[in-house]
Amino acid sequence: EKGGYEHYMRKEIHEQPTALRQTLAGRLDVDAGDVDLDVSFPPGFLADLEEIRIVACGTSYYAGRYAAQLFEDLAGVRATVEIASEYEFGAGRTPDRTLVVAVTQSGETADTLGAIRRANAAGARTFAVTNTLGSTVTREVDGTAFIRAGPEIGVAATKTFASQVATLAMLGVAIGRDRGALAAADARSVLEDLQGLPGAVQQVLDEEQRVREAAREFQDSEAFFFVGRSLGVPVALEGALKLKEISYDHAEGFAAGELKHGPLALVTPETPVIAVLTDGARADETMNNVTEAQTRGAPALGCVSAGDEYDTLDASFDVPDVGVVEPLVANVYLQLFAYHVANEKGRPIDKPRNLAKSVTVE
Ligand code: F6R
Repeated sequence: EKGGYEHYMRKEIHEQPTALRQTLAGRLDVDAGDVDLDVSFPPGFLADLEEIRIVACGTSYYAGRYAAQLFEDLAGVRATVEIASEYEFGAGRTPDRTLVVAVTQSGETADTLGAIRRANAAGARTFAVTNTLGSTVTREVDGTAFIRAGPEIGVAATKTFASQVATLAMLGVAIGRDRGALAAADARSVLEDLQGLPGAVQQVLDEEQRVREAAREFQDSEAFFFVGRSLGVPVALEGALKLKEISYDHAEGFAAGELKHGPLALVTPETPVIAVLTDGARADETMNNVTEAQTRGAPALGCVSAGDEYDTLDASFDVPDVGVVEPLVANVYLQLFAYHVANEKGRPIDKPRNLAKSVTVE
């Protein structure tokens, strides 16, 4: 059932082009600059929105952070993202003109369900982005968009992260178009980026051998620091989560500009820095921060937009040109890196210690 792969995680990493094609299938109308998500919002539901607030946990929370940045541009409305377990018990006000969007692969995460219940009680409009038909969250929200990634068995979320971000990008376009906040030409450019996503991910997967070599070279490091800016921040955070979860190595993700505000004290020749250096992620400014780490002896690896070059990197991985989803494509390198570090160490990759696929306790 693992289709020749040793672990579900690696199988699911490699399924991403197919999963993304399913996510996008029949939903993009590139000529019209619009999307059809099979969601019919009641009349007026979107028109007077003041805020979109995304609530989620773990990897889904990082997908939410990616999406919130896109929403600000696409949907023409303030977009925020909050950890579901914080929102659930938070003191903040939820005005009734807020759309609370739960992002949850399983649709069963107790913290996320708790957040949606709080939002419903406050009179907010609610929405779910999930992989799971018939899941609990779908029964508690005003509308649902399915990410259609197919079943994910590995405890570490991989293909569902990519499909979540792609679905949320489409949702942003749908909302922006519905509200009259997004010009067709601007929508079209995002939809073209999305169309290029499955092929771009495949190109990254074809580089797996090089990532494996880097994993072998750096696997015995003391700690790993992932950095990015803008859309590269959620990807850096996700890259660190994936590595710590399955390899048990210490890894942290930072907004690159924060490195010098404290974490730089931890940087040594034993702590590689892994950077998102693509379009949509302020690559040049990020590289300045990477250089600060290199000056302290840290090795540096980077995911770099095809055509760009940073010669001082110890290893550079090409990311095809797909605009606002380039950082999402870079994430596939980070998934492969985490997988191969963990695999070299013989970790139980599909069932890491202390973790469950679906967390149904608060
Ligand atoms: C990490 C991981 C978890 C989940 C989190 C939310 O690889 O899988 O961090 O992302 O538990 O789960 P869902 O998306 O099912 O709500």
